Amino acid sequence: MRVTVNNLTFAYTQKLVLNKVNFSLKSGDFLTIHGKNGSGKSTMIKCFLKLLKVPDGSILLDDVDINHLKTFSNIGYVPQKNEFNYEFPITVFEILSCAYNKKRDAFYTSIINSFDLNKIYHENINNLSGGQIQRVFIARSLLNNPKLLILDEPTVGVDVDNVRTLHRILADLKKQSITIILVSHDLDFCKDLTDYCLVLNELGDYHFGKLGDEDVS
Ligand SMILES: Nc1ncnc2c1ncn2[C@@H]1O[C@H](COP(=O)(O)OP(=O)(O)OP(=O)(O)O)[C@@H](O)[C@H]1O
Ligand SMILES: [Mg+2]
Repeated sequence: MRVTVNNLTFAYTQKLVLNKVNFSLKSGDFLTIHGKNGSGKSTMIKCFLKLLKVPDGSILLDDVDINHLKTFSNIGYVPQKNEFNYEFPITVFEILSCAYNKKRDAFYTSIINSFDLNKIYHENINNLSGGQIQRVFIARSLLNNPKLLILDEPTVGVDVDNVRTLHRILADLKKQSITIILVSHDLDFCKDLTDYCLVLNELGDYHFGKLGDEDVS
C-alpha cells in the first residue's frame, strides 16, 4: 500500500505535537519511527488509524484520503502496550475471532503456531503476562492479510524467541510488498529491515530520510 502524508499537523489543546510532517512510502517500504518518549510517535499512528482526527494536512493510502476510506480492514495494527485495558474479560480466541470470521484454516493455524498461542488459546487475557498479550495482538494484526501493517513498540516485554519470530515474519511480509510502519526504540531489531526512518523531536520538528542518511541514523 502506498502512503502519502501531506503537512500533517496535530496539537492536543495548546501542545503542538506534529508540525507539517511530510513523507511518502511505496508499497513494500519499511518505515521505522524513532523519537524520545512524548515526541509524538503514537499520536502519529493514531492519526493514521483515525483514532485521532487530523485537523490540518492529509494522509492518503493508495491515493485515497483516509477520511474517504470505507474500511480499514486491510490495515493491521498492534497498539502500544499501555493502550489496552488488560482487565477486559475476553479470551485469546475471542480477540483473534474478531479479526478472522472465517473457519480455522491452514493460514490461521500457521499464525497461531508461529506465536505459540495454542496453550493459551482459551485463556482470559487478564490471566496472561504482558508479553503473551503482546504476542496475541501481533498475531491478530496479521490475520486479515494487511497491505499496511502498523506496530507501536511491538517488542516491548516479548521474550527473545518471540522477538526473533516477529523479526522473521516482518522480513517475510516485506518481501511480499506489505508496507510496514514500526515504532521502536530497539535499533538492533529494526536496522536490517528499515528502508526509511522518521525521527520525531520536540515541538513537532522531525527528520525523514533513507536509512544511512546522516541526520536520521
Ligand atoms: N490524550 C492526550 N491528551 C493530551 N496530551 C496527550 C494525549 N496523549 C498524548 N499526549 C501528549 O502528547 C505528546 C506525545 O505523546 P505520544 O503518546 O504520541 O508520545 P510517544 O512518542 O508515543 O511516547 P512514548 O515513547 O512514551 O510512547 C506527549 O507530550 C503526551 O503527553
Ligand atoms: Mg507511544
